[in-house]
Amino acid sequence: MTTQEWIDLSDRYIMSTYKRHPLVLTRGLGVHVWDSEGRCYLDLVGGIAVCALGHAHPKVVTAIKEQVENLSHVSNLYHIAPQILLARFLVENSPLDKAFFCNSGAEANEAAIKLARKYASEHMGGRYELITMQDSFHGRTLATVTATAQERFHVGFEPLPEGFRYVPYNDLPALEAAVTEKTCGVLVEPIQGESGVVIPDSGYLPGIRRICDEKGLLMIADEVQTGIGRTGTLFACEQTEVVPDMITLAKALGNGFPIGALLAKEKIAAAFVPGSHGSTFGGNPLACAAALATLETILEERVLENCRKVGAYFLSRLGELKNKHPRIREVRGQGLILAVELTVPGAEFVEKCMEKGLLINCTNGDVLRFVPPLILTRQDVDKAIGILDGALEEK
Ligand SMILES: Cc1ncc(COP(=O)(O)O)c(C=O)c1O
Repeated sequence: MTTQEWIDLSDRYIMSTYKRHPLVLTRGLGVHVWDSEGRCYLDLVGGIAVCALGHAHPKVVTAIKEQVENLSHVSNLYHIAPQILLARFLVENSPLDKAFFCNSGAEANEAAIKLARKYASEHMGGRYELITMQDSFHGRTLATVTATAQERFHVGFEPLPEGFRYVPYNDLPALEAAVTEKTCGVLVEPIQGESGVVIPDSGYLPGIRRICDEKGLLMIADEVQTGIGRTGTLFACEQTEVVPDMITLAKALGNGFPIGALLAKEKIAAAFVPGSHGSTFGGNPLACAAALATLETILEERVLENCRKVGAYFLSRLGELKNKHPRIREVRGQGLILAVELTVPGAEFVEKCMEKGLLINCTNGDVLRFVPPLILTRQDVDKAIGILDGALEEK
């Protein structure tokens, strides 16, 4: 089938929730993907911060194959060995004590919202409101889209669930002032990914922790995008030494196999009892085997070190581009979540790069975002910079 024939079929049968590029990607290996016509692309999108170990990583492939041949699914009515091992890994490598598994980032945040409310209903005198940040992104279920403080995602879906209050990001006085007798917690991204890789001041997360401690509130870190090594440590919060009460994960956790997780401190997790919450597929053997292999490989193959080194190199090369191209307003990033903010819309540069064999993403209209596999090399960066340079030069 030709690309156009695929696109026609897609238009006919699939709901139009995405503005898609005219590409049908059919194969991936490492940091590269190929389209249905055999063209190769350097993939700096990585399924939007998902394929941390690149495409078809042999250890993840083997783990999935072995698991699918053995047992792909059983109900959470039984104990599931890969789920137990994954929970142990996450707990031993984080400051939190208990895990709940689900299938996506939105579900992980939904679970966090429910756990916060359940805990608050039992220990915080009926408080239920969460404070979230303007321009945040937490998912597309009704509760998580309401937590997402961006009106454009709300329009047409009203009435929205109550219990969310919004304050500007990176603004501690505004947060402190917004706390009321209804507030039970704060939900925050360590870096705002979807709204353009917005990195807060170094004192921001510690400041939120302080406010939560002083006022007896729960601090929930949404590490769906920043977690699993993206910023150069397993969790972005680690770099600030802040210990949240809950952390949500998804995206890179299964290196492309859908899985989400909520981690929580013991005393908070205890508010969930049999029947409180659940998921048919959450923590199923196949997803957990993929996630465990992903996490073990990240540590074994020193992927975090690579992320830090190659991320710093990428940022410095983007800095060189900024000195050369007046249409770049700012470059920023941490580890391998990086952005180029333009003075003009970014969509046309995404198209130009695609024509030259480079996949990048534009978010928030004028921000080119790079969330590639964490196994990226300096050579890959040089290639990407060459293509970006050319795309910025044109016109
Ligand atoms: C910080 C953050 N939270 C939650 C989500 C939602 O995750 P999912 O699309 O897996 O539901 C995303 C997705 O981009 C995200 O970046």
